[in-house]
Amino acid sequence: MLDMSDSAASRHRPSAGGVVISWPDLDPSPSAGWAHRHLLDVDQLTRAELERSLDLAVEMRERRIRRESLDLLRGEVVGLAFCEPSTRTRVSFELAAEALGAQVVELPIDVSSVTKGESLVDTLRTLERTGVTMVILRHSMSGAPYLAARSVAVRIVNAGDGSHAHPTQALLDALTLRDALGTLDGKKIAIIGDIGHSRVARSNLHALTALGASVWLAGPPSWVRGFDGWPGVQVADRLQDALADADAVMALRIQLEREAGGGVPSLREYTARWGLDADRLAAARPAAPVLHPGPTNEGVEITADLAASERSLIGAQVVNGVAMRMAVLALLAR
Ligand code: NCD
Repeated sequence: MLDMSDSAASRHRPSAGGVVISWPDLDPSPSAGWAHRHLLDVDQLTRAELERSLDLAVEMRERRIRRESLDLLRGEVVGLAFCEPSTRTRVSFELAAEALGAQVVELPIDVSSVTKGESLVDTLRTLERTGVTMVILRHSMSGAPYLAARSVAVRIVNAGDGSHAHPTQALLDALTLRDALGTLDGKKIAIIGDIGHSRVARSNLHALTALGASVWLAGPPSWVRGFDGWPGVQVADRLQDALADADAVMALRIQLEREAGGGVPSLREYTARWGLDADRLAAARPAAPVLHPGPTNEGVEITADLAASERSLIGAQVVNGVAMRMAVLALLAR
């Protein structure tokens, strides 16, 4: 736990926004004993590290509610390199870095030299020379953050690479589920839809199973093929089998930009067979929550009513996104 005793609090410097909390006031400091320079995917984290990052996110969330400013990232220059469209992920990383006192620079990808043919690595080298110390990288190419981490000395946070991984989304999903269910141990989590093209699903499979959940997948056959070999993962032939007695259900966006369209005859047929609505959710445990990483294809993966219902944690996922990213940045800071 972070030390918030009176003696620690008395060392805090007041600021316009409340109290500023610095490294020496945190005992232990978030990154003490944290061996990772980069966050490329959750499969690099042990169960203890996953739990520690979720606990730290809870701390960060409480401190945000108390409007405390933290300067754990003072001196860090965080570059946002989003080479693919993003709203919630980009904004939440920006808010998280600023909330921790970092200087944030946004790489204007559309007008930058990336569009003039400069390679990703060249662009990152230029950023490194200008003093950027951490890069939040989203890229359409699976593996791009791994290449970046090998090629430059700045720390890399993967904010989604192709259909491969989206570690901070999986962490914030795990946090949202742990808040709702108390624990993930022994829970049945159903993930429905476009698993094959989904970086969110892949990272979630690692995180949720490492935290003790069993994951059931259901979706059109070509989108779930090959996942039955994952430890702790079951592939259901029928939607009802995945939903039966599930403790929570996650729908995924159909990744049309990753040529997912070929996996189903039409979106209408997808909805008829795999779309989530209140009636279908009745097979899950009473009050089992429903999640979606957003953005949704409205009315395709989940009905608008269900997405807006009391069972929906979609809003909580967004709220947790900022706190979870604060925790990740604090863990990776020097
Ligand atoms: C996800 C992504 O970009 O992978 N969205 C997000 O990070 N908020 C999921 C998606 O786009 O379907």
